[in-house]
Amino acid sequence: MSSIKGFIFDLDGVLVDTAEYHYRGWQRLADEEGFPFDRKANEALRGISRRESLLLILNGRILPEEKIQEMMERKNRYYVEYIQQVSPDDMLPGALDLLHEIRQACLKCAIGSASKNTCTVVEKLGIAHLVDAISDGYSVTNPKPAPDLFLHAAGQLGLPPGECVVVEDAAAGIEAAIAGGFRSIGLGPIERVGTAEVVYPSLDGLLLAKILTDLG
Ligand code: G6P
Ligand code: MG
Repeated sequence: MSSIKGFIFDLDGVLVDTAEYHYRGWQRLADEEGFPFDRKANEALRGISRRESLLLILNGRILPEEKIQEMMERKNRYYVEYIQQVSPDDMLPGALDLLHEIRQACLKCAIGSASKNTCTVVEKLGIAHLVDAISDGYSVTNPKPAPDLFLHAAGQLGLPPGECVVVEDAAAGIEAAIAGGFRSIGLGPIERVGTAEVVYPSLDGLLLAKILTDLG
């Protein structure tokens, strides 16, 4: 029998393609401000908190705190505008089936996302009944790559990190999982998530049994 008793899913880019909306929000802000930014630069922002993301875009430019706050709020307004259209149809391929399988197998399931918009997105996707706990941008102070958010989620599930597998699309998320002593699954290219124990292109077509076998 597998030692894995629970799953902790990142949200943006794992269960739903809201990573694209975060990117569009930052791109719009960067264009308005004349900061160089593109999809390639955005890769480094995956899984990173709102403030840390902006600081990466600013690339050493020093701005007054009020301006930083204003820019974070503006990007969030754009993001909130984009996610209004999120619906259950926006679940990424394979994600809903896997959540159902996890429920059926009586394994625990949490969401661990740095986003302060996590609950809104979960509600719009209609998956709240499939998760036992949500740890989000309000739960801890130290963002990924610190393990704090996943430790918070594991605590809510009542499981030790070694019995939970973290599913992530971000380098910072895999780093956080490893730092916390979690099992790890990376979704996406090796260059981004190659340090995870197991890497898949996406959740599409993935069965729970295969994941548990691959993790050993
Ligand atoms: C997730 C996303 C990041 C985003 C962060 C904060 O980790 O992957 O792209 O910057 O959450 O999201 P928020 O909705 O609070 O700005
Ligand atoms: Mg993500």
